[in-house]
Amino acid sequence: MIGIFDSGLGGLSVLAAIAKALPAADMRYLADTAYVPYGNKDEAFIRARVLKIGRYLADQGCSLIVVACNTATAAAVTMLRSALPNIPVVGIEPGIKPAAHSTRSGRIAVLATESTARSMRLSSLIQRYAGNVCVDVIACPGWANRVESLQLDDPGFTESAHHHLAQTLEAGADRIVLGCTHYTFLAPALTPLVAGRAQLVDVAEAVARQCRRLASTAENSQGRLILQATAHPERLQAALPALGLAQLLPRLQEAAAQIDI
Ligand code: DGL
Repeated sequence: MIGIFDSGLGGLSVLAAIAKALPAADMRYLADTAYVPYGNKDEAFIRARVLKIGRYLADQGCSLIVVACNTATAAAVTMLRSALPNIPVVGIEPGIKPAAHSTRSGRIAVLATESTARSMRLSSLIQRYAGNVCVDVIACPGWANRVESLQLDDPGFTESAHHHLAQTLEAGADRIVLGCTHYTFLAPALTPLVAGRAQLVDVAEAVARQCRRLASTAENSQGRLILQATAHPERLQAALPALGLAQLLPRLQEAAAQIDI
């Protein structure tokens, strides 16, 4: 069983990629919706949540844990790995490396939550992989909440996206990194805004490949999906078709459930 978690709906983009790469894997998805968004919280708070959820997933028998949240990865993946030394923990980090390798203009941008944008981990990622490239780090407050309320393409979002992207596009950025798993669901609205100038970079599939390398093949898996949320589990389940993930519904054997952790 693979345990996957995020603050809310965003990690479903990673879950969908894993389900595609490992169709027979059993998966447990936990949305920490009682505390969404993480992006405006401090690191100590995020660390405490990640530790609690990671331990819960380990107790449920997960043999691989995926932190399907850039914000949680930046704040807490190292700590979670030390806390669970016997379980592989896969995190997700903004695709700075592929963007820096493929840019033609020498300028890229990364869209992220406030917490990820100011994190040390993002700065060192940029130093390591994008030393010769200009990187615009753009915090996008409120975007994760838009996804939570399934407001994916209203005029308010177009305006906000235009506001966040205009300057970097004007300066020549040709790769826009989606540095938050929620933003995958905003890609259909973002694509026309960057068309002809830049490409969006999403690493959900790369994370899924990493899971395929690490997942235990010995398990008797049947492609089952368990959905859990710390608040409003019914919204988590209802979001699947709304986010274009109706193909995951037949994997559910029971309705999404609330857990109090
Ligand atoms: N989906 C998360 C991420 O990848 C966090 C969004 C939030 O809760 O602010 O960063």
